[in-house]
Amino acid sequence: MNSYRTHTCNELRLSDVGKKVSLIGWVDSVRDHGGVIFIDLRDRSGITQVVFHPDTNADVAKLSQTLRSEDMIRISGEVIERLKTDSIDTTNADLLTGEIEVSADALDIINKSNVLPFQLDRSIANEDLRLKYRYLDLRRPEMVRNMTIRHRVTKAIRDFLDEAGFLEIETPILSKSTPEGARDFLVPARLAPGKFYALPQAPQQYKQLLMVAGMERYFQVARCFRDEDLRSDRQLEFTQIDIEASFVKPQDMFDLTEGALKRAYQEAVGIDIPTPFPRMTWKEAMDQYGSDKPERRFDMKLTDLSDIFANSGFKVFSGAISKGGVVKAINAKGFSNPSVGQIDALTKAAIETGAKGLAYIKVREDGWKSPITKFLSEDEISAMTERLNIETGDLILFAAGDWEQSCNILGRVRLMCADYMELLKDNKDLDFLWVTEFPLLGWDEEEQRWVAIHHPFTRPVDEDKEKLIKGELSVNLRAQAYDVVLNGVELGGGSIRIHERDLQAAMFKALGITDEQAQEQFGHILTAFTFGAPPHGGLALGLDRLVMLICGAESIREVIAFPKNNRGADLMSDSPSAVDPKQLREIHIQVKLPEKLKN
Ligand code: AMO
Ligand code: AMP
Repeated sequence: MNSYRTHTCNELRLSDVGKKVSLIGWVDSVRDHGGVIFIDLRDRSGITQVVFHPDTNADVAKLSQTLRSEDMIRISGEVIERLKTDSIDTTNADLLTGEIEVSADALDIINKSNVLPFQLDRSIANEDLRLKYRYLDLRRPEMVRNMTIRHRVTKAIRDFLDEAGFLEIETPILSKSTPEGARDFLVPARLAPGKFYALPQAPQQYKQLLMVAGMERYFQVARCFRDEDLRSDRQLEFTQIDIEASFVKPQDMFDLTEGALKRAYQEAVGIDIPTPFPRMTWKEAMDQYGSDKPERRFDMKLTDLSDIFANSGFKVFSGAISKGGVVKAINAKGFSNPSVGQIDALTKAAIETGAKGLAYIKVREDGWKSPITKFLSEDEISAMTERLNIETGDLILFAAGDWEQSCNILGRVRLMCADYMELLKDNKDLDFLWVTEFPLLGWDEEEQRWVAIHHPFTRPVDEDKEKLIKGELSVNLRAQAYDVVLNGVELGGGSIRIHERDLQAAMFKALGITDEQAQEQFGHILTAFTFGAPPHGGLALGLDRLVMLICGAESIREVIAFPKNNRGADLMSDSPSAVDPKQLREIHIQVKLPEKLKN
């Protein structure tokens, strides 16, 4: 009951029959049964059928004939039971209000709707059109459901962390550009001509400084900004449930995260997810699934064949092994008949991931079809047949070369095969997993330097600490870093941090940052660590990705009210856009586009 209505459109039941009510909402649909007008009246909560009968009020019934989809109206009338006899049934079992309707004796057309750019009751293929009129798109029940689930997930996690003693603390959006990580969004500082703020890629340093500040347990529903290429699970701005705690080891973070996710699933969709989640080291994940976010709901694991082909006459294989690499393969069971287009696409993906080619064997009734079997000995073929359990109907795919690259290649190819074979069609399983012991450092070929795999504040495992301090750097140094993965999607990641100044300085040095640069860019955090900084660690969950998976959506755009499209544009407000030259003068910015980018 409020000034406009007595009930919402999803409230009235048989027990309300006889009541005088007022409802307000949008005309969802109109049907004319020979002068008797039926409409579905919709608000956020649902639908109630309203009938305008000339016998009830002739003027109102006449006016109702002008109603069109999405007109905003208010009606008053009496709740009546819908007709249901042996021969006629006008009830609607799909609606909670389906046993009643409201017989209207008053109609107030509050605001007419123009003809819609698309119909709201079907799925709309053209996403750009949906984004241009997002406020209409959001009226659709599916989007209302997604927004509702997002709200519930956020609230459940907030409540959970609050009960666990966490304080929600906001950190600056105008912050400092740092060289590590993705590309920053820059904001010119008018008050400091020629200087820039950066929008935070994550509140990483602030949350660690809050630990130095003694806040002990922090969280934030934090907006993050990264100027990177967009994908179905990536936006330029996205939301993290960002967490940091003092006096924790990885096990504490696992328990906490599992508790938060359990609560989110329970309260948003009533699903009880089993905890604790299984764990796998990064090395195992890469070796078996070719990914640091393994999709384990189908098998098709990577198998090492290096011992079989070490002395092979096929130089692509034996050559890779003699250079310290591996030969690995997957068996796509029952996929011996891929189309030419599919083999081409798999090969293209392998080459994009760094392969020179993608050797394969199609195991057919009438023999093995393969460009490579002619190079292989009988012993090699029989050993491989046994190891891969090769049977008629299989497709075998190979990668030969550097271990990590071969894993990545087959990891990608494996997912594509599963997609072609529809192995996960209608699969509703939830496979949560912790991936642990990520490498601390990776070698960047392009820049010829070490880079932090997680971020530069990540702590090495105790056994590798001395090596970092002594500068004995390699890809074998392991980090106390962990990712939580759900069905092949990286939901979140975190680590135990460095809390000692000297260890942090050693890490910056390892990354090729000079003492002066470290002082200039990270001086505040190095100094902070000299004042009794506590041991601490944390994690951030990608809220958009979590909600996407809970909703069963294909893209995080489906669970963000106003997302950017895949070119980074907001089609509704038409941003990014040019600005007034006066605004640019105030911040001393001059735009100089190369010829080819003009217009
Ligand atoms: P990380 O960079 O792994 O860690 O980010 C944490 C989680 O955020 C989500 N995510 C994204 N979601 C949508 N669009 C994007 N562009 C995007 N980028 C990341 C992912 C990811 O797992 N400060 C550290 C966390 C920590 O160490 O505590 C961090 O930001 O789900
Ligand atoms: P080639 O002898 O170069 O013609 O290669 C024979 C087959 O092996 C072709 O099908 C190639 O696509 C494939 N191939 C080449 N290099 C590799 C590699 N590093 N890993 C897997 N397959 C490869």
